[in-house]
Amino acid sequence: MSDPTSAARRHPLPPEAWPDAAEAACSRLFSPLRLGSGLVLADRTWVPAMVPWRASAGGEVTPAVLDWYRRFAEGQPGTLVVEATGIRDVPSGPLLRIGHDRFLPGLQRLAQTVREASGGRTALLIQIIDFLSIRRRPERSRFLRDFLALTARHRERLAERDPALAEAPEPALREALCALDDGTLAAVLDPREAEALERGARERVTDVHLPHIASLPAVLPGLFADAAARARRAGFHGVELHYAHAYTMASFLSRQNTRADGYGGSLEERARLPLEVLAAVRGRVGRDFTVGIRFLGDEGIRGGSDVTDACAFGVRFARAGADVLSISRGGKFEDARAPKVGEAIYPYTGPSGALCMPSVFDSEPPFGRNLPLAAAVRAALRADGSAVPVVAAGGLNGFRLAEAALAAGDADLIGAARQTLADPDWFAKLRRGEGTSIARCLYTNYCEALDRQHREVTCQLWDRLATDEPGTPLSADGRRRLVAPRGAWRPAPRSGA
Ligand SMILES: Cc1cc2nc3c(=O)[nH]c(=O)nc-3n(C[C@H](O)[C@H](O)[C@H](O)COP(=O)(O)O)c2cc1C
Ligand code: SF4
Repeated sequence: MSDPTSAARRHPLPPEAWPDAAEAACSRLFSPLRLGSGLVLADRTWVPAMVPWRASAGGEVTPAVLDWYRRFAEGQPGTLVVEATGIRDVPSGPLLRIGHDRFLPGLQRLAQTVREASGGRTALLIQIIDFLSIRRRPERSRFLRDFLALTARHRERLAERDPALAEAPEPALREALCALDDGTLAAVLDPREAEALERGARERVTDVHLPHIASLPAVLPGLFADAAARARRAGFHGVELHYAHAYTMASFLSRQNTRADGYGGSLEERARLPLEVLAAVRGRVGRDFTVGIRFLGDEGIRGGSDVTDACAFGVRFARAGADVLSISRGGKFEDARAPKVGEAIYPYTGPSGALCMPSVFDSEPPFGRNLPLAAAVRAALRADGSAVPVVAAGGLNGFRLAEAALAAGDADLIGAARQTLADPDWFAKLRRGEGTSIARCLYTNYCEALDRQHREVTCQLWDRLATDEPGTPLSADGRRRLVAPRGAWRPAPRSGA
């Protein structure tokens, strides 16, 4: 994991002139906002979804999930978005789920916990997600001996090298494949097979030869609508449809979606299923339940969608009744690093991942890096006569930066994920004029590295305090706090820092 004292850290935290309580009280950041659903947000502060890997193996809310969201709610942000939560009733590891009524009691406890801890100030949304199957990277010989579906093409290519293999039985062909060096093997396999070997097999929305992929447009509107209805019954103020990053709905929006069944190709066709999902959700939950959409301002990959697509999608989502649009960036599988054998590919490890969670190790500073994308989408909405608010995120870590973005019309809401992870009280401290006591995120992505390994996400700053006070929940190895410290605390500098 990254060390914040490393010489590779290129961008120091910018100095900040913190407001006093009077200045904060009349700021844009702490002014209310009414959404089209009628929900009034207490202010413009927004905590975007972050998966903390605290759910049970069956996707249930656990006491650790409640602790995690209680701690955010104590900081009383205007809006808190619960992590990406699966809409299907299928095993998904320790990812929170909402795909069946049995998840309702846990989700009700979660909504109630946030209501109580925030004193009713925080609007609570839950991000709902669909994703396709990805497999772990297989061990080479296991893949060639057990998983690869042998075809006539493999036989032909092997026979070109050794004519005796033209009639050989299948086990002999598999042994011949195992004996090839990597370069030759890559020429014998087709690109998807080579990908399955080197990165783990990954389904795509364009795999329409698979019945469950072909039928996604028939199935997903109902699944999203059912999930949204459950969110409403559980006591959430709204849902955020996850149309961003590496997952199913973002893949429909992508320029890489070449489906020829009316759900891919042109911009209109790529937007069709996302709009049908929105319509189904709205039809189920009614006009007075908040429905937001998170999508990409730019996929950040070769041949992917860019900000011109994002502006067009934003206009269509707003016309179709979305209450709020949250703009993210990148986070794709296509350019992610190959995982180690036995691990699954993680969409935040490549260049597009760095765009999604910008860090101080990048060539550009992370602070407010993705604001231009939110600004472009917002400008397109306003030009279309829409007042739908836009959330920006990406290195938003200070009062002046937030105020300037709001004043310039770059965004209507200020999303801060890692800064709120580092110090869940930071918005409250700003409001109280206690900015100097904020624990500032270092943007070194220690938390993201834990997320990548599906380990309980924590912040490196929390552990620079003693971890032995009674009542401090700790990770299984006893070395990391599971929630941020409470009260006035400042991370101690590292020795040598
Ligand atoms: C640990 C972690 C988990 C995340 N999980 C999600 C998620 O579930 N859904 C999502 O849309 N974004 C997720 N993100 C991305 C953040 O919401 C946010 O867009 C990104 O971190 C950039 O904002 P920031 O610079 O304020 O952190 C996650 C980020 C982190 C650090
Ligand atoms: S939230 Fe904590 S762990 Fe994550 S980048 Fe910020 S300082 Fe590092």
